[in-house]
Amino acid sequence: MLLQEIGTLEWSKQEYTAKDDLSEAIDHGILVSNLAFLLSKELGKDDEFCYAMAEAGMVHDIGKLKLGKYLYGRNKDTLVIEEMKYVRMHPTIGYDILKNYEYSDIILETVYHHHENYDGSGYPDNLKEKSIPYGARILRTCDVFAALISERRYRAAFDIDTAIELMVEEVKNFDMEIFLAFLRIVNSDKFNEIQSFIESINKKNMFIKDTK
Ligand SMILES: [Fe+2]
Repeated sequence: MLLQEIGTLEWSKQEYTAKDDLSEAIDHGILVSNLAFLLSKELGKDDEFCYAMAEAGMVHDIGKLKLGKYLYGRNKDTLVIEEMKYVRMHPTIGYDILKNYEYSDIILETVYHHHENYDGSGYPDNLKEKSIPYGARILRTCDVFAALISERRYRAAFDIDTAIELMVEEVKNFDMEIFLAFLRIVNSDKFNEIQSFIESINKKNMFIKDTK
């Protein structure tokens, strides 16, 4: 199964509230933000770029909040094709929201292209390789990892080693230089604090599941 399909096709029958959705979105934003900052530093980028990536990481899925009624399809087992079309609109919707708030061009293009895959199989523009903005390639790597290691309502979190294995299987989706830098971070002391944060959000989400 393609990585981008994991987590979008299967849905739990459990009821979740809008607050649960928002809390999950915020935790995901914080995680991607921290990873994108560290990864940008590892890649030798200057402070301005690193902070832009931290900000882009926080807001990259903001378009999903507008699509809540489609994305958080309660009482449904599967996401139908029509709904998948809406899911794929979230980067452009996010871009349209953020451009009204005068976010920098680098943040806007990173959000707009954060679902492009290195082999050209992503969206919205099917960009390939170096034609994908650098920031969007950074965010793609962090976003996929963050999604895999997070507890979701429809599946348990993958452990870090399994998440990396799954990413290696689909490495055609990533810029290799960026992916290798990401592996260095995961295997370094810098990752310890991130790991504690991951454990705390997964514990919280497990608790939300248990109490439903
Ligand atoms: Fe996204």
